[in-house]
Amino acid sequence: MKIAIGCDHGGLNLKGEIIKHLQAKGIEVKDYGTYNTESCDYPDIAIQVAEDIINKNSNFGILVCGTGIGISLAANKVPGIRAALCSDTFSAHATREHNNANILALGERTVGVGLALDIVDAFLNAEFQGGRHQNRIDKISKIEKKYSK
Ligand code: RB5
Repeated sequence: MKIAIGCDHGGLNLKGEIIKHLQAKGIEVKDYGTYNTESCDYPDIAIQVAEDIINKNSNFGILVCGTGIGISLAANKVPGIRAALCSDTFSAHATREHNNANILALGERTVGVGLALDIVDAFLNAEFQGGRHQNRIDKISKIEKKYSK
């Protein structure tokens, strides 16, 4: 499995912990930065991870900012991206099973490292259930098409 990961300055520490966690499991990680605590703009990172997923270079993306909100909002502007901000493990596996989420977003300032790593595991270990859920995702795609020029 290959994971694309990125953060702004508000998510730097948690991103580092997630990379260590994934690499210890033998999972390949592509790190899109940011790489230091200097203030930066989360959309600049979100688009790189989102495009990596759309181009099928990685299986899933993980994005971290202070709250996880801004970076998930930005990623979700890319057609085909379903970025889910999760702060509990139930949502993390449910968003894979029901929404076929392809990016997990986390907030460094809202969840502790231990919980965040459990959320990552719950997300990556779950599988999309298809069926009626695919029908709903198709409707999301239709909305995207209606409003893209
Ligand atoms: C940066 O200070 C902060 O606004 C950002 O990390 C994020 O929380 C935005 O949603």
